[in-house]
Amino acid sequence: MTDDAAAEDARRGGPDPAARRAVARAAPDPQTLQAALDATGYLTDTGLSTALYLALRLPQPILLEGEPGVGKTEAARALAAVLGGPLIRLQCYDGLDAAEALYEWNYPRQLLGIRLAESRGEPLAEADLFADAYLLRRPVLAALTHPGPTPAVLLIDEIDRADDDFEAFLLEVLADASVTIPELGTVRAAVTPVVVLTSNRTRDLHDALKRRCLYHWIDYPDTERVVEILRRRVPGASAALATEVTAAVRRLRTLELQKPPGIAESIDWVSALTVLGVERLEAEDADRTLGVLVKYREDHDLVRDRGLTWLVGAPDG
Ligand SMILES: Nc1ncnc2c1ncn2[C@@H]1O[C@H](COP(=O)(O)OP(=O)(O)OP(=O)(O)O)[C@@H](O)[C@H]1O
Ligand SMILES: [Mg+2]
Repeated sequence: MTDDAAAEDARRGGPDPAARRAVARAAPDPQTLQAALDATGYLTDTGLSTALYLALRLPQPILLEGEPGVGKTEAARALAAVLGGPLIRLQCYDGLDAAEALYEWNYPRQLLGIRLAESRGEPLAEADLFADAYLLRRPVLAALTHPGPTPAVLLIDEIDRADDDFEAFLLEVLADASVTIPELGTVRAAVTPVVVLTSNRTRDLHDALKRRCLYHWIDYPDTERVVEILRRRVPGASAALATEVTAAVRRLRTLELQKPPGIAESIDWVSALTVLGVERLEAEDADRTLGVLVKYREDHDLVRDRGLTWLVGAPDG
């Protein structure tokens, strides 16, 4: 390694050789990673498993986009399970600020510390109150300070819901794998976390953020894979039911619904039908359980207008 490369690694807080080895063992190549993800119950195609492999091995943050319910969040969970490290999740929302993502001082505990010192007549310097013991590590700091050797997976979920300022803050953290806490100094990642960002594309993200990330669009899976997912997630369901539900959902997705059902709703539907003892999908079953699948009244009307016999694929008549 050249001096420059070593300096760059040191600046980025990695790569820690033990962490590299741990990642290389879990994901020696894309096929092995795909099989390992499969074993956790998360099914991928070659495109997704290769993208995740690159995110682990380069390493580089990865941005996953796709319709609701295609398995963006689950991808991070499955990666953490394969690596055997913690999953640390930051759920984004409008108004999320750096403090909530990074750290806060434990104010009640600081007050208690002051009272105790007073009652014991002990001296207390300001620096004593801004020590590690009073620091509440929020997800980003928790991921950066995870000791390893297996890296943490930092899931920054639904980044499109956070605002521009937060995106800018994140950019800095991703670029340096370090953060500065005024009272404590700069904290560098001991082991660079695996960073997975997800977005539902309610707004476009900045190019600067995208430039630092690998990108993968997760498509709605093909029929065979959906059936397999349903069978894995609802072990009690009959094979015929899983196939019929997959076909019905695919038909539904051709209608102009406000919220087309995804994999999550399909899993819920198969679970509900199985609890009701249904083994083959009939129009009446679809009728009484439609609320598991379709969550807008207007969508219900659309489906009923099109016909429940059409939905379940039964011949008209
Ligand atoms: N490829 C897959 N293999 C196994 N299960 C999957 C897969 N994709 C999705 N699922 C299941 O579908 C459900 C929805 O997945 P998930 O929550 O990850 O979707 P999402 O893309 O994050 O959706 P949203 O945008 O609504 O947050 C979960 O129960 C998950 O287990
Ligand atoms: Mg999600």
